[in-house]
Amino acid sequence: MVSIRIGIVGYKDEDHTELMAGILRDKNVEPVVIDTLYFPEEIPFSYREGNVKYNSASIDDIKTFYVRTVYISLPVYQLPDEEHKLLDDWKFMYLATREKHSFLASWLRAQKFQGKNVINPTETFDLHFLKLYQLELLRKNKISVPKTLVTNSKDEVLEFRNEVKQMVYKPVGGGAECEMLKDEDFAPERMQLLKNAPVIFQEYIPGDNIRVYVIEDKIISAGIIHTQHVDYRAGEEKIEKIKLPGNVEKMCLSAAKVCGMKFSGIDIKKKNKDDFVLIECNPSPMFKGFSERTGDNIGEALSEYLIKLTR
Ligand SMILES: Nc1ncnc2c1ncn2[C@@H]1O[C@H](COP(=O)(O)OP(=O)(O)O)[C@@H](O)[C@H]1O
Ligand SMILES: [Mg+2]
Repeated sequence: MVSIRIGIVGYKDEDHTELMAGILRDKNVEPVVIDTLYFPEEIPFSYREGNVKYNSASIDDIKTFYVRTVYISLPVYQLPDEEHKLLDDWKFMYLATREKHSFLASWLRAQKFQGKNVINPTETFDLHFLKLYQLELLRKNKISVPKTLVTNSKDEVLEFRNEVKQMVYKPVGGGAECEMLKDEDFAPERMQLLKNAPVIFQEYIPGDNIRVYVIEDKIISAGIIHTQHVDYRAGEEKIEKIKLPGNVEKMCLSAAKVCGMKFSGIDIKKKNKDDFVLIECNPSPMFKGFSERTGDNIGEALSEYLIKLTR
């Protein structure tokens, strides 16, 4: 007999949606996938003064939602290819997508009025796109982050270079890889691009890339991601499971807490034996590949946490 239902905000065929749905089913919990891809075209979804109907049936019994696909108040940085092709309809599509995102984000944010659990709270998603703000939040809470400059001024970049020597650059709102700033990037035609948009410049932190998974006040898994690239996502070679020193575990738990993330994938760099620098806390981290390669079952731990919140 199925006793409880847990919501997964994701979409059919998405890796982590399917993985979590399977794990929950095995535990006799019914996963209800709130499909953010087929809404609004194919799925009726309504909110009426606190009561929610998804696919024409009430989901008011659902106390806990795991949010896999993230909705934010900024415009999306990448439209799916098909939508680009619909050039005539571009404005229509853009506005319709904006309305959809507004609905999903408001619905999730309003769940707190019913005392529901949303993992992670939508407020934390903003931190993924407001990178400067997240860095400041961490820095103000005495968590070690790289020296950072966000600017559209070439002069400021030159001054920063004198101070930090090696630096990386990345988009302020995310969505592209982090790269080393090279000598040729100081050519006038490259620097001129700063007039289009500000950019994050950061001291380059050498050393191991470490990914840490946190659920509430526990470290679930940590591993070194071996790579030849600055941004490990450009190519991972292997993941080596590790145990972090106690003070680094503490730093990660405190960072997730400060960011309001109940579940987080935290990227840190090990500069040397005793010096760890936090790069970013991610509010909806992928974990399937990491689990397979470290043997740490993050999905299992997450499902136990979701069930604990629900019971
Ligand atoms: N200051 C830095 N020094 C060294 N490596 C960095 C630095 N910033 C980012 N990276 C590398 O690039 C990856 C992605 O950077 P991150 O700031 O997390 O951007 P994103 O939001 O796009 O994930 C990091 O996990 C790390 O491997
Ligand atoms: Mg990141």
